[in-house]
Amino acid sequence: MSKKKRILSGMRPTGRLHLGHYTGALENWIKLQSEYESFHLIADYHVLTTNLNTDNVYDDSVQMVIDWLAAGLEPDHAPMFRQSKVKQHTELFLIFSMLITANRLERNPTIKEQVRDLNIEQVIYGHLGYPVLQSADILLYKGEYVPVGEDQVPHVEITREMARKFNNQYGVVFPEPEPLLTKFSRLIGVDGNAKMSKSLGNAILLSDQPDEVKAKLRKAVTDPQKLRKGDPGRPEVCVVFSYHQRFNNAETDEIAANCRSGALGCVDCKMRCSAKISEFLDPMLQKRAYYENNMNKVLEIIGDGENTANEVAENTMKEVREHMKLG
Ligand code: TRP
Repeated sequence: MSKKKRILSGMRPTGRLHLGHYTGALENWIKLQSEYESFHLIADYHVLTTNLNTDNVYDDSVQMVIDWLAAGLEPDHAPMFRQSKVKQHTELFLIFSMLITANRLERNPTIKEQVRDLNIEQVIYGHLGYPVLQSADILLYKGEYVPVGEDQVPHVEITREMARKFNNQYGVVFPEPEPLLTKFSRLIGVDGNAKMSKSLGNAILLSDQPDEVKAKLRKAVTDPQKLRKGDPGRPEVCVVFSYHQRFNNAETDEIAANCRSGALGCVDCKMRCSAKISEFLDPMLQKRAYYENNMNKVLEIIGDGENTANEVAENTMKEVREHMKLG
């Protein structure tokens, strides 16, 4: 039997995850975990590129791991570890920073977007180097595939260039990783914003209790032309309908027909939707409760992950230092 290919996946810890993280990334990671050998990185240094306040980074990292576990990632198969606890990331980051021009990094479309979206006036050096650190994240573990959404593809491309550049200069150490595209079913926010995001305040968290889901759905944006039950609605412009499509697929035809005819009012429709979402989240809530009551388990999982990651990373760095004749 051939050896399993290796995946490196990562997320920046921003605290509790929401349904957008699930459909955009986690669901795919869970699907891939049996087929590939997976490493799951908590990109806590990457947080610094846009936020210098580190007060919450530790807690956010732990909460993110609880969501990963609750959603179904299996730590026995896949180490989960913090970037900041595997020092080889910084070493490889430094070496890689010599193998790419500032000009190449300035052309990275992802940073251009961030600069625009976050109104950044002066780009810090480390932010420009975001993909250099990400290349180190991936190549330290010799990741062959990287499950990402469209927005991260330029970073995987830079990682490939980095691997090629190193291999040409010092001899072959690294694979050229490929993106494994998540069929990016980006989830709309409850307010109708194209992106569900915690900072926009329009997210349904994986850890939301049924009453919280209900309250959020009650405020969700529907067809503005449908003012009361009886008015014909247009499911295609309704946020709630998009959630039905995702979490209540079996009933979407009936719901669409009754929305259009006016037989189904928005209040009822929202209640049905929140019930389905909570049904979907229920197993995650139960698992989360278990881990919250057994925090030592969570910390042990992270500690074990960090030990495994350290070993793999150090083996790669030994090869890197040998190839560079650094001794
Ligand atoms: N840049 C990724 C994001 O914002 C997070 C990340 C950091 C990552 N290092 C990685 C993703 C390595 C994949 C592989 O989502």
